[in-house]
Amino acid sequence: MSSPHHILVLAGSLRKESFTLKIANALAKLAPPALRLDVVMPHGISFFNQDLEANPPADWLAFRERIQKSAAVIFVTPEYNRSISGVLKNAIDVASRPYGKSSFLGKPVGIISNSPGPLGGVSAAKHLQNILPGISGPIMGQPEMYLNGVGDAFDEKGHLIKESLQKVLQQYLDAFAAFVEKQNG
Ligand SMILES: Cc1cc2nc3c(=O)[nH]c(=O)nc-3n(C[C@H](O)[C@H](O)[C@H](O)COP(=O)(O)O)c2cc1C
Repeated sequence: MSSPHHILVLAGSLRKESFTLKIANALAKLAPPALRLDVVMPHGISFFNQDLEANPPADWLAFRERIQKSAAVIFVTPEYNRSISGVLKNAIDVASRPYGKSSFLGKPVGIISNSPGPLGGVSAAKHLQNILPGISGPIMGQPEMYLNGVGDAFDEKGHLIKESLQKVLQQYLDAFAAFVEKQNG
């Protein structure tokens, strides 16, 4: 069997008990043999400032390199005020530069939103679908994944205990593995 595709899972929250992070970790555990998932949170990424572009901070360079070294990216996003979190937008802005050399270019992308509320962060996911096309590779359209009611999906250790959620994440990963395989020809 060929070696697994290395997928970066970008969890768009900084919160220790983040549901977004717990979903990202659950994905990493459920990954099929064709994928290896690495979870990253946008900790320590300096605020994007165009003045710094000529001499970028080391944290920008390290973050960009992590993306460049991966075969694909899955965004797991919370919803803040009907959009993505500020920290996730900042991370995307950092990775999108230098102009025309976005670290996401050509990388197949998956988008998963979540919320403890009833709407599953669908607005945040839709915003990502607007933000990414100019700076990334193709975005997987199906299955759509807006996970609602995630507040009771984990035990006190952060393990996924909701079987129905486990099943849809598994299905999503199988679809994403096929999507990445197809993009890589
Ligand atoms: C500033 C702020 C805005 C929020 N706006 C929304 C929202 O628009 N829709 C929603 O479903 N939840 C909203 N929430 C609730 C978040 O979904 C909830 O806090 C969630 O746990 C954040 O993600 P995390 O657990 O990964 O940190 C908001 C929370 C904060 C702090």
